[in-house]
Amino acid sequence: MADKIVILTGAGISAESGLGTFRDEGGLWAKHRIEDVATPEGFARDPALVHGFYNARRVQAASAVPNPAHTALARLQRDWPGEVVIVTQNVDGLHEKAGATAIHMHGELSGALCFACGHRWTAPPQMSPGEPCPACAAPTGRPDIVWFGEMPYHMDEIEDHLLGCDLFAAIGTSGQVYPAAGFVQGAAYAGARTIELNLAESEITGAFEDHRIGPASEVVPAWVAELLD
Ligand code: APR
Repeated sequence: MADKIVILTGAGISAESGLGTFRDEGGLWAKHRIEDVATPEGFARDPALVHGFYNARRVQAASAVPNPAHTALARLQRDWPGEVVIVTQNVDGLHEKAGATAIHMHGELSGALCFACGHRWTAPPQMSPGEPCPACAAPTGRPDIVWFGEMPYHMDEIEDHLLGCDLFAAIGTSGQVYPAAGFVQGAAYAGARTIELNLAESEITGAFEDHRIGPASEVVPAWVAELLD
């Protein structure tokens, strides 16, 4: 039976598609305060500011193009004889644009959520305060993004994949935000081999057996070729 591969991706895999990361030099968290734009309290305090932050990222992501790293992962999912599960912290939709499927543990910029009734719908390019919910009509639409202090999505499914995988890879994540930063420990505990692909060392580099250092658009296609060819 071919190995099951689980891959965690972070903002670094989309950096070469022109989308900013969070914690690199000049990253999103250097320009915006997390508590203002990425918490339920910030949204309650100033919904216009929060919608403005996600509207800008939604428009940018809509025109972003997958880079060779996204394309390589789609190739791996298509051609690997075993199961390949991508778990992404990213909300930019680039895995799907490259032809892959992914579990979105932090939600998606393309999604809107009603915080009154829980209904989900495709977000318009620009959302605004009092966005009406198509289901319950309440003015309670918000970006379908998991904010700090909220539970990431699909955690039970993700944990099952981690405990059943033979190879765990993390690509382009700084390893600073849990639970994602702890996935490598779970996978290793269950006996998986582990590899980190990143431009630089991360907070969790020491937890991986193997490493590929370089830009994702180079190291990810090379790693996929090692596996497939
Ligand atoms: N190729 C590979 N890795 C890269 C590249 C690149 N071209 N550019 C940057 N990186 C790496 C950085 O070295 C860093 O380790 O990508 C990582 C980016 O880290 P963060 O900006 O912290 O992004 P991420 O790890 O995805 O953040 C996790 O934090 O703010 C929350 O919800 C947000 O999903 C996000 C989570």
